[in-house]
Amino acid sequence: MSGQRESIHGQWSSRGAFILAATGSAVGLGNIWKFPYITGENGGGAFVLVYLACIAIIGVPIMMAEIMLGRRGRQSPINTMHTLAIEAGHSTNWQYLGWLGVAAGFLILSYYSVIAGWAVAYVVRAASGTFTNASVEVVKNVFIQLVSDPEKLIAWHSLFMLMTMFVVARGVQGGLEKAVRLMMPALFVILVLLVGYSMQNGAFAKAVDFLFKPDFHALFYHLDGHGKEYFSWNGVLIAMGHAFFTLSLGMGAIMVYGSYLPNGTSIAQTTFVIALADTVVALLAGLAIFPIVFANNLEPDSGPGLIFNTLPFAFGHMEGGTLFGVLFFILLTFAAWTSSISLVEPAVAWLVENIGISRVRAAVITGLGCWAAGLVTIFSFNVWSDIKPLSGIKIFKDKTIFDLLDYLTANIMLPLGGLLIAIFAVWIMSREASMEELDMGNRFGYKLWRFLVRYITPVAVMIVFLNVLGIISLK
Ligand code: PFF
Repeated sequence: MSGQRESIHGQWSSRGAFILAATGSAVGLGNIWKFPYITGENGGGAFVLVYLACIAIIGVPIMMAEIMLGRRGRQSPINTMHTLAIEAGHSTNWQYLGWLGVAAGFLILSYYSVIAGWAVAYVVRAASGTFTNASVEVVKNVFIQLVSDPEKLIAWHSLFMLMTMFVVARGVQGGLEKAVRLMMPALFVILVLLVGYSMQNGAFAKAVDFLFKPDFHALFYHLDGHGKEYFSWNGVLIAMGHAFFTLSLGMGAIMVYGSYLPNGTSIAQTTFVIALADTVVALLAGLAIFPIVFANNLEPDSGPGLIFNTLPFAFGHMEGGTLFGVLFFILLTFAAWTSSISLVEPAVAWLVENIGISRVRAAVITGLGCWAAGLVTIFSFNVWSDIKPLSGIKIFKDKTIFDLLDYLTANIMLPLGGLLIAIFAVWIMSREASMEELDMGNRFGYKLWRFLVRYITPVAVMIVFLNVLGIISLK
């Protein structure tokens, strides 16, 4: 069966191109912006440990499953699920898994683009020397001024959305494949340089302790509105949700990229490379940021502004900092750019397949929708910053609309999508089909994969869900 279908959207030029594109999708704001701030909010080491465990035992097997389904179906996730369900003799309702992914991608991009807009804005701020010798206070103020001005945010969000749609409209192979080839290694180098700076000038030992010494109390216990501690699995759910988010799993992005993967490429090997690169980038970001946080008495749990309040300070005080700062924010913009295109690809591919419109039209339609939805995030940082819709629920007490949107997508929709993908890959699809597509023979690797996806992944996701919902309570 394998190799009979062909994607109407074309194929990656090579295995390397796929790795680059999928790594481009995985490495993004999730690694450099989100990972540090949620680690800070959830107490450090224990959170990092759970996150790493989730990458290894949930993320990697699910990524393999997603690529496998994509390559076998060779269509947008919605149609791929439809086709594969029929092939397996099951209900075509499985296509709704594809719809869940499209909805998640749409919602994520709506806020992702706003945050990416901050990165673009900071290219200009760094270039104009705003941070040269700036105090921590000045750096913080620059951030506050940006996010409290809806007009500025709308302008940057619009620019980033245009950039995204431009590339999506042209198809992925056009220019982006080449850009990623240059940008990803450059980002890596600059992160290493930043870690070097932090080693010399920051509280490095304290940061290493914070990131790698597990303190489970800090992960499981939080303060309620009255300063009283309560126990919750919420931090574990956030770590698990982030494993999905950072690897772009659970919504069909990697599935649709897999649908353009040439036959004969090893899915296990490519998955391993992608997951490793993604994890290394996140850890480097943590090692660059937290030494600066601790050396300057900044709050590790200060939220989404964390990297914008720390790194510019470092740039402002180092030799050649203006250049490094500009370069860093350009690379961050690129990392976000290569991720954002994968967030809309499932929807765009579906529009092209089912409505028969051109890629350009499909990109314009989804882009306009996401742009409008992004306004909700923009206002969450200023005019609506006092609106906390679920403040009656402990774990949501301080959450703005943006926070809730992020929580809903990353911690609920993606793990739910991942759970269903796992179920489909090993309980619905035939063993012959998955064995053929993964092409690992019936050896240890395949058996381990099947075992993890069959039992460990679904059970782990369910346990975390049920604990957060309070239906079971493991202590
Ligand atoms: N993995 C991206 C990041 O870490 O920034 C975000 C992302 C992209 C999530 C694509 C989901 C997705 F489908």
